[in-house]
Amino acid sequence: MESKRFEIETHTLFSKSLIWQLNRDYFNAQGVDAWRKGVVPHQLTSNSMVGKTYAELIFAFLKDLADKGQVLEKVYILELGAGHGRLAFHILKHLERLKEQENVVVPPCCYILSDIVEENLKFFYSHPQFQVYYKKGILDVAYFDAIEGKEILLRHSGLKILPKDLKQPLLAIANYFFDSIPSDLFYFKDKKISNCFVTLETSEDPKEMDAELLLKKIDFNFQTAPAAYPIYQDTILNEILEDYRELVFDTYLFFPHKGLQCLQNLKQLSQQGLMVISMDKGFHEIHDLENTKIPEMITHGSMSFWVNYHAFGTYCKKLGGTSLLPSSSNFHLELACLMLLPDSESFTKTKIAYERFVNDFGPDDFNGLKRFTYKHLAKMELLEIINMLRLSSYDSSLFVNVLPQLKQVSQHISFNERTRLAQTMHKTWDMYFTLYEYEDLAFEIGGMFYALGFYEEALDYFQFSINLYGHTPDEYYNRILCYYQLRKDALFLKTLEAAITSFPDYKKFDYLKNLDLTAV
Ligand SMILES: C[S@@+](CC[C@H](N)C(=O)[O-])C[C@H]1O[C@@H](n2cnc3c(N)ncnc32)[C@H](O)[C@@H]1O
Repeated sequence: MESKRFEIETHTLFSKSLIWQLNRDYFNAQGVDAWRKGVVPHQLTSNSMVGKTYAELIFAFLKDLADKGQVLEKVYILELGAGHGRLAFHILKHLERLKEQENVVVPPCCYILSDIVEENLKFFYSHPQFQVYYKKGILDVAYFDAIEGKEILLRHSGLKILPKDLKQPLLAIANYFFDSIPSDLFYFKDKKISNCFVTLETSEDPKEMDAELLLKKIDFNFQTAPAAYPIYQDTILNEILEDYRELVFDTYLFFPHKGLQCLQNLKQLSQQGLMVISMDKGFHEIHDLENTKIPEMITHGSMSFWVNYHAFGTYCKKLGGTSLLPSSSNFHLELACLMLLPDSESFTKTKIAYERFVNDFGPDDFNGLKRFTYKHLAKMELLEIINMLRLSSYDSSLFVNVLPQLKQVSQHISFNERTRLAQTMHKTWDMYFTLYEYEDLAFEIGGMFYALGFYEEALDYFQFSINLYGHTPDEYYNRILCYYQLRKDALFLKTLEAAITSFPDYKKFDYLKNLDLTAV
């Protein structure tokens, strides 16, 4: 018997399909929970090491502008679809540090966190770790739809950026972004271009489903039909497609029409052009775009597809700009610098930074080492784990993942190793940006300090935990033990009383009541 099918959409042009609206609906409905609950992954693309890589590129770009004498006007750094804000935090931390270390004159800059989800913008604006940057005037927040947006209203400063307003190039960041906005899809065969259409179906009644469930349950059927010419109004886009017609055969190919339109709109905001730094799963080499079968939608709460950086790079060149793309093969975490700037070849410091921080060893390589670490974690020794944490620029998500092994290997360690581990934990905390997620990093670090016999430090971290999550019985229990170890009897008794009042049913407090305060 044939099972019932529910057709949601019939023969719709891929870029106009309902899936893109469902994606937007998903982000709107979830807000920061999308990342807080670990549904949409972000550790790969928004960790501290990635933030450092971006900061190195941005700093080099600022130095290039300074070399051209452009030191007075502010440079705006617009992050598109910033989502959770964690990448911005990492970038700002590393950038501030680089500026302090080098102490060279560079133009002032202001980082703009943007998104289309109001809840995310509120989260950015009220986040305690961002307040210092708002006060310094180096951070702002804006609603910005990257597909339609042609002006930016900054919510903190009140400034409105209109076309041609900026006297410095605009620097845009598109991290894990271009895969989330509508893309065109073509089928190339025998030097002919076809449009791709989709029919969407589910086996269960879609009326009962929200965006997240629908995205999970949808089945695609692809159809193709010969494209009518001209395909686009913009002749450059048609030229790129014509090139593909000659270069590829029998392949499905994503074409980032909306992404390129976004670049055009952003470029209009400045008298000096645009540089985009973008990272995503994608391809930039033509051979990777060959013989691609019907694309698979990747769902992880939201959905995404691979990004065609080759098209972004070609577009840049055709407009007289420069694109920096990985020189060696990689495992497809691509980091691109798209420079639509007057005389973009003269941005030598940016190019050198790209060589060092992407081509020599970059986020894609680091990700490989991270996978290796997880595979061999059970055999890793303390210093090896610390080495990895240092390489990650003290990334907190890596720390949380290696913590079980760290606890194992730190049971019997020397004084020097304890000190090194303590330094590592302080630095990891310094790089941590809270999403108020389930894992309480401060509490975990506090526990590690307690186990190492650093009771004052443990107390500091238990306090950080209280600041973020409020009082819990476990936090009380551990703090009281610290007071006991430090022989702070008055605090011991006072805190125990408060703990019992707040959590009268917590049995472990009985053990504390029986501790001997006179023991030597
Ligand atoms: C996959 S998430 C990436 C979040 C973050 N950039 C990261 O690296 O993890 C995509 C983000 O883009 C936002 N977004 C989706 N469509 C957008 C659009 N048209 N303009 C601006 N932001 C958009 C979503 O709200 C979401 O925050």
